Parts: sequence; structure tokens; C-alpha cells
Amino acid sequence: TGIVISPNCLVGVNSEGTIDFVREEASQPAGIDGIRLFKQEYTGPVQNLNHFKYVDYSKDCYKFIVPGFIDTHIHASQYPNIGIGLGCPLLDWLNNYTFKLEKRFSDPKEQMELAKLVYTKVINRTLKAGTTCASYFTTIDTKTSKLFADLLLKYGQRGFVGKVCMDHNEEYPEYQEPKDKSLEAMKDLIGYCDGLTNVKPIITPRFAPVCSSSLLKQLGQLAKDCKIPIQTHISENKDEIKLVEGLFPECDNYASVYKDHGLLGSSTILAHAIHLSEKECNVIKKENCSLSHCPTSNSFISSGEAPIHKYLYENKINVSLGTDLSGGYEQSILGVMKHSIMVSHHLAMKTEKSKDKLSIHDVFYMATRAGAIAVGLKDKLGSFEAGKQFDAQLIDLDAIGANTDVFDWQIPKNNEKDKWLDLISKWIFSGDDRNCVKVWVDGNLVVDKLRLGWVLV
Ligand code: GUN
Ligand code: FE
Repeated sequence: TGIVISPNCLVGVNSEGTIDFVREEASQPAGIDGIRLFKQEYTGPVQNLNHFKYVDYSKDCYKFIVPGFIDTHIHASQYPNIGIGLGCPLLDWLNNYTFKLEKRFSDPKEQMELAKLVYTKVINRTLKAGTTCASYFTTIDTKTSKLFADLLLKYGQRGFVGKVCMDHNEEYPEYQEPKDKSLEAMKDLIGYCDGLTNVKPIITPRFAPVCSSSLLKQLGQLAKDCKIPIQTHISENKDEIKLVEGLFPECDNYASVYKDHGLLGSSTILAHAIHLSEKECNVIKKENCSLSHCPTSNSFISSGEAPIHKYLYENKINVSLGTDLSGGYEQSILGVMKHSIMVSHHLAMKTEKSKDKLSIHDVFYMATRAGAIAVGLKDKLGSFEAGKQFDAQLIDLDAIGANTDVFDWQIPKNNEKDKWLDLISKWIFSGDDRNCVKVWVDGNLVVDKLRLGWVLV
């Protein structure tokens, strides 16, 4: 699962945006995983090698192409709260900041204007940071969740729309909806997305503390009936875990609450998962669920350090990455990759187990291929292979304003892969969205900062 670097690679993309072929010009066999460095970048649909159009970046050693990032946990509605609420533990943070903001998306006086403003921003911010696919939470409101689906289509980001379902809220009773209304609204959204290829609904019980047993059960059934994926939060904070134990005394543990209500399976994404017991890890592995690791959020809200290396290599659970805006302050998955490594180092210093440390290979895998598995698109996304969709980003270490200085002696000659790895590492640690100069989804160029006059929408 390591990063694969292909300095002399040619990729053909057909008019559907599907990769037709991956051709190594050098004689070594084509690597499959991870990063590919393109000699030639196609700018349009290609049917026949003799008639292709391309831009040749092969003389520019600062540019390379990588698969688009997949953000498996992000709250679109919380975007305005980035950076706000430092110091509050989870339950206070929800009550003091989050529910208040989300509730505004239900207010007839401002909801459409607010949603258009916030949702346009968050889609564009993440897209221009290389996120080609994301699994979103919106709010409990259906009308603005539909608008969100429209905006994903408009800007060309692949996305899952999770209208938030929650039918009780003791701490902040102004933000909840009756169970039947919640279920109807979810069905309404499923109908609205019917027939769309790149915008899909996802069933989203917010988390166990705000969902009745009956709502959880019916959402599980709905997911089964309509073959729709599920996302929720799990085991983020110790007070939250205690709350769940009190609310569901009949269940063994937090993971069992979801399991007993038919919510766990291979298309379930569980966010955070910081304090899982070994028993819960076994349930999650057995049910084939994916985790979304959200380290920026876990640090910002001081929820804890998730033992990701253990989940990946001992429990063999699929772990992807999430920004978790605005628990997380970082809209870019590149930033989350960096933070994942730093948090794993802190964990390793605490446990004195150096194997708790994550590598650049681990985090790159989590940002791409593991994300593709989590969103049920492992045959379509996450790497450059024939048959997959061309979702990609062009990285430029020499981009205008970028911090990624490369010195002469650091420039790789064609096959010096260690030097390329150093540049990838430099990109992860001192790069940011300014290095991401073009983005494609389904072979279509959706962000082009190299074109004169490019502006942020
Ligand atoms: N748990 C339930 N809701 C939320 C949320 O909006 N953000 C985070 N980080 N955790 C949650
Ligand atoms: Fe979250």
C-alpha cells in the first residue's frame, strides 16, 4: 500500500472520464498504488493515442499528478465556525456553537441565502484543495440539503449528502425534529438524488446520544431497503461514551448500539473512533465498516489521540481521513495528513511505542485508496488504474505563493525515487492548497489556477 512513483507515465482518459490505459514508458511494470508522476497530462477526452491532446510537464520537475483526495467526514454547514470554540469539550462545543449555527439553516427568513453562501464556499474551498470526493453532513433541514446537492452538481465535486437525522436533544431542544419527519425528509432527499451519478444520499443518524432507538432502527432498515450508505460519529469523547451507556443500557458498548440497530456494514463510515475497546474493534472489523480519522478535530476539541496504526495493522480496519469541519479547523486533506502524522508521533511518545507512528505512505493511502473503500467506490476511485475514474490533482511545488522551496540538489533525476519521496514529504509538511493548481473530476477540469483570470467563486 505504499506510495508508487512513476516518473514516466502516460494515462489515457476516455470521454466518460474513465482511465483507458496506464502506460509506463520506462520498461518497469506499471505500479498500481498511490502517486503517479505524469510525463504528459491529457487535457481532454482521448480515444486514440494517435489523436490525443496533451500538455507535457515532463521538463518541469516541480509538477506531479496525484489522485484526488477523499474527505470521508465533513460538516458543510459548520464551515463558518472554523477556528471558533477552542477549549470546549465535545458536548459543550455542540451546545454552545454547533447546534446554534446548524439551526439557522432551518429558519425560513435566512436559510436559502445562508445555505447558498456557506455551501458554495465549502465546496469551492475543498475542491481547490484537491478534495474530489467528500462525504458531507448538512443539517436537519431538507430544503437546504437539496440545495447542497445542486451545488455539488454545479461545481463538479463528487459527494454524498447526509441530511442530519436526530429526534431528541435534551441539551439544546430547539434543534431536533420528530422521528417521522426525519425519516420522511431522508426519503425525500433520496428521491431528489435519484438518477444522479456523482451526488448520492447517505443516511446520517448524527450520533447515538440524539437518536431514539426507534429512529436508529428505521434508518438502518431504510439503508438496507434503498441500498444507501450510512455515516455517523462514534466514541469521540469520554463523556459522550458515558452518555451512550446510560441511554442504551441494553447494548454491550457504543459500537453495539449501532450494530444492534442494523447500522453497521461495509458501507458504514464511523467518524472519530478514538476510544474504542478491543471488543468494539472486533465488531467493527467483523462488520467491515470504515473509520474516518479526524485528527485536527480531535486535537482542536481535545478529544484524544486515536491509535490509527493499531487499527490499520493489528485490527486491519479500513481507516480513511476526514476534515470534520468545524470540529476540525483544516479544510484541506493535505493538512489532515500532516496532522495525522504529528498526532501519531505524540501518541508514540506517550506510549513509548515507536510503531504507533504513521508514515507518509500510511497517510497518503488513507487520503486516497482507503477513502475510496470507505465511500464504496474502491473500483472507481483512489488511484490511477485502467477502469477507474480520472479524479486527480496537479501539484506544483513551485506554484505562486507556495512555501515549498526546492533546492537544486533536491531535484530528482528521472528515476531517483527516494528524492521524489522527499519532495512528496516536503509537499505534505510545507505545502498547502496553493500547490494544488488543477483538479479533475471524471476527467473534467473543475479547478484551473494556471489559467489567467482564475478566481475563487
Ligand atoms: N458528534 C455529534 N455531532 C458532532 C459534530 O457535529 N461534530 C463532531 N466533531 N462530533 C459530533
Ligand atoms: Fe463530525
